[in-house]
Amino acid sequence: MILPNKPRGTQDIYPPRSLVYQKIQQIVIEILRKNNYQLIIFPTFEAKELFTSSLGSTTDIVHKEMYTFKDRKERVLVLRPEGTASTVRLVCQNKLVKEDYPLKLYYWANMFRYERPQKGRRREFWQLGIELINAPGVFADYQILKLVSDILQGLGIKNFDFSLNYLGNNEVREKYKSKLKKIVDEKFVPKLCDDCKIRYETNPLRILDCKEENLPFSLPSYEKLWDKESIDYVKKLTQILKKFGLPFKYDYRLVRGLDYYTGLVFEVNLGGEKTLLGGGRYDNLYHEMGKGRFPAIGFAIGIERLVDYLENFQPDSELLKIDSGVDAFFLVSDVEAYSDVLEWEKKLKGHSLIIDYNLEIRKAKTLSKIIDYYQPRLLVILGENDLKVKKILIKDCQNRQEFLVEKEKVVEWIVNYLI
Ligand code: HAM
Repeated sequence: MILPNKPRGTQDIYPPRSLVYQKIQQIVIEILRKNNYQLIIFPTFEAKELFTSSLGSTTDIVHKEMYTFKDRKERVLVLRPEGTASTVRLVCQNKLVKEDYPLKLYYWANMFRYERPQKGRRREFWQLGIELINAPGVFADYQILKLVSDILQGLGIKNFDFSLNYLGNNEVREKYKSKLKKIVDEKFVPKLCDDCKIRYETNPLRILDCKEENLPFSLPSYEKLWDKESIDYVKKLTQILKKFGLPFKYDYRLVRGLDYYTGLVFEVNLGGEKTLLGGGRYDNLYHEMGKGRFPAIGFAIGIERLVDYLENFQPDSELLKIDSGVDAFFLVSDVEAYSDVLEWEKKLKGHSLIIDYNLEIRKAKTLSKIIDYYQPRLLVILGENDLKVKKILIKDCQNRQEFLVEKEKVVEWIVNYLI
């Protein structure tokens, strides 16, 4: 059989890159634990309606990027394109919100969007998403921005700053839409790309999703439309961010590509690459989709974009230094030696050492090939003769030293040598 290729826009992730993902996950989970966040896992596919009714029917995701299929009972399902809508469903249906306490959740999940694949844009990609639910107000917003900052710093990312915007209340957002429509007006419509011509008709805000960078007009600024409430909010947030030294700038034209955002929206862009992470407040979504009125804020980081960024702009990052070698490799060339090796293996693993050994006795390969493959710190050689004389040859593969160790003392010696 000829193996079919993996589908376009998907990826195989294997060592060492998979180990970089794992390291990132470990660091992030630790930070989230300290911040009192807990893991949720939702299904890979959901009813189509969940996304059409939450993300906005005119958004690019709903309009043309969802992997939609029917199951045998003709139910219309979608491979999840993002995690916020699934979180809303999960929280509502399992009644996770208790009284007026905040709920702090995170997910590490693959997402699916039928986009044109290119650097930083895949059809299947991984996201770390964080949602702070039932938490209104500026301190909740600050807490989320601080968490982003803790995560990026924990991953050794320097020199980032937030792009922030404030979309205000419904009235402000409506004013923005009509202003945008006025600016674009009939005279610019012929100059828009084909996608944007349709967007202009369905929802002018979606023109801002245009992937063809140069719009033939300049976008209106939210700042000019803010009411007193907006101005007071922005003042307060700015004060807190300055006091606690979080790096930010306002981008009054920042509008994110999902319809559920209501107040603060933010992104982090690094090294001229595509947006590394984005999020914002969505105070109406729970009410629109479920029963409760739970103001919420969250964000998601694209893991591929994070790893790409580190590789291209911080190649010295500790995260990219993967040690995939074993601590000790036992090279057995006499079947009698296995009973000792299995005993030693058990004891050494109890000391958290990484141990491996050959599973079959084969015609001898050169030692250098074995060392290349397993990259052991110690190579323990067990031939027929070694067992008879009860002295075992151990090679330190890094320092190229050799030791003869008494058979009874092998475990003790290795532990002392390596730990
Ligand atoms: P989003 O901006 O659509 O937001 O995606 C968040 C991040 O996912 C992006 O900044 C990017 O790093 C990554 N990403 C998106 N599309 C792709 C792609 N095709 N290939 C690779 N990476 C991609 C959301 O998904 C919201 N649910 C975030 C959120 C959570 N807002 C509130 N809570």
